[in-house]
Amino acid sequence: MQEDRKALVIFGSTGDLALTKLFPALFRLFNDGNIPEMLDIIAMSRQPLSDEAFIEQLVHHIHEADTTQLQAFIAKITLLTCDIHDRDSFQPLHALVAPSALAIYYYAIPPRLFGKVTDQLHVSGCLNDHSRVVVEKPLGHDLMSARAIHDELSSRLSESQIFRIDHYLGKEAVQNLMALRFGNAIFEPLWRAARIRYIQITVAESVGVGDRADYYDRTGALRDMIQNHLLQLLCILAMEPPARLSPDAVRDEKLKVLQALRPIEAHEVVRKTVRGQYAPSSSSEVLGYLQERGVAGGSVTETFVALKAEINNWRWAGMPIYLRTGKRLHSKCSEVVIQFSDVPIKLFETSGSQMLSNRLVIRLQPHESIKLFVNAKTSGRGMRLEPNALNLDFCDEGKMRRWTAYERLFLDIIAGDLTLFLRSSEIEAAWSWVDPIIEGWEQHMPNPERYSVGSWGPSASDQLLARDGYIWLNSEGQ
Ligand code: BG6
Repeated sequence: MQEDRKALVIFGSTGDLALTKLFPALFRLFNDGNIPEMLDIIAMSRQPLSDEAFIEQLVHHIHEADTTQLQAFIAKITLLTCDIHDRDSFQPLHALVAPSALAIYYYAIPPRLFGKVTDQLHVSGCLNDHSRVVVEKPLGHDLMSARAIHDELSSRLSESQIFRIDHYLGKEAVQNLMALRFGNAIFEPLWRAARIRYIQITVAESVGVGDRADYYDRTGALRDMIQNHLLQLLCILAMEPPARLSPDAVRDEKLKVLQALRPIEAHEVVRKTVRGQYAPSSSSEVLGYLQERGVAGGSVTETFVALKAEINNWRWAGMPIYLRTGKRLHSKCSEVVIQFSDVPIKLFETSGSQMLSNRLVIRLQPHESIKLFVNAKTSGRGMRLEPNALNLDFCDEGKMRRWTAYERLFLDIIAGDLTLFLRSSEIEAAWSWVDPIIEGWEQHMPNPERYSVGSWGPSASDQLLARDGYIWLNSEGQ
């Protein structure tokens, strides 16, 4: 065994996740010299595939003009065909990983196969105490199924060997949110319900369900986005400062937020949640959800969710946190808006000012930035104020290339840093909060409200905020 030799084994190498996200991220790391020299990449494919056909797919998805670099990257990859139900199929893999001191197995395959692959890896001698396994959502359909997945994984692996990815935690602006909160003292006294009126978290997509109807129609926006990405964003925003930046210190604090979420009981769903489904609009050719290929006729799967969450702890009790996500919305935009309280006396209101209460807007995509809106005097006579943004722009031309979430997370996996990966307790706490909402929907809101393609969602979403006297802020908090 060679001390420095590492193997990264990707199951599901010809699937969408591997081809569109994983290999391009690995290539960019390689291109920048960030992949350890001694890392072998092993691509596992269920279907027998020639090297040439696989390389063609890689080249198609990596979009790289520098063919020398691309060829050098491709040379690092060994393609293996593997039927996960056939034990013998794991022998060639064993021969390849045996010389490595560390083997990382990335399961880019459906969760129903996690248990089987783990068993085969164990039986064929590919797993040891140092091996790491990377898994990705959907980690369950509800609390019970999430526990079943966990039981299968943990029968062969310890918690410290399991890397559960939520790619939102790899986004630059999310990590900057942690930097902003815990690397600056000025925000801490303001970071509480007494100083903030509300928080909005929006993850809006302009795309539809695409080729994933088979998965999506069984899943819906609540399970696909809120249970994981939006709740993780909420955790980073609302957690207490951890004592250290160690995986357990950070994950303990995130878990406390999830556990403090005020349950939305079945009878409250009508008042606190909104379900929508996109429908054709007269002004566009774009298909509605029910017309998409692969969607069941009369499907009641939601493609949009808005809800009002509250955290029942000392810091946040009583302050609303509005979450919203959907497909085929007006534009692709992921944003967190923190609306601070008003000034206690409006000294400048009568002098033609346009002033707003302070607002912090964290834009995750597109164009990652953090803007703090403060009021400043306009030029000239008199005290006329208007909001100005103090702007941290992370996409400035001339700055270093922006990394994608998967690049950052890959390096953490190779380094064995679990800080940005979820613990099973977080997944379970998130499902415990989401499950009663689903039950409530089954009882009280079986049908989603239609919204037009290209809009900001159903009208009930605006009413949800209007009941509290607010509106959704749709772009850079405007
Ligand atoms: C995935 C969801 O986890 O996140 C998709 O399954 C969604 O439905 C995607 O489109 C959004 O990710 P991003 O990084 O494009 O915002």
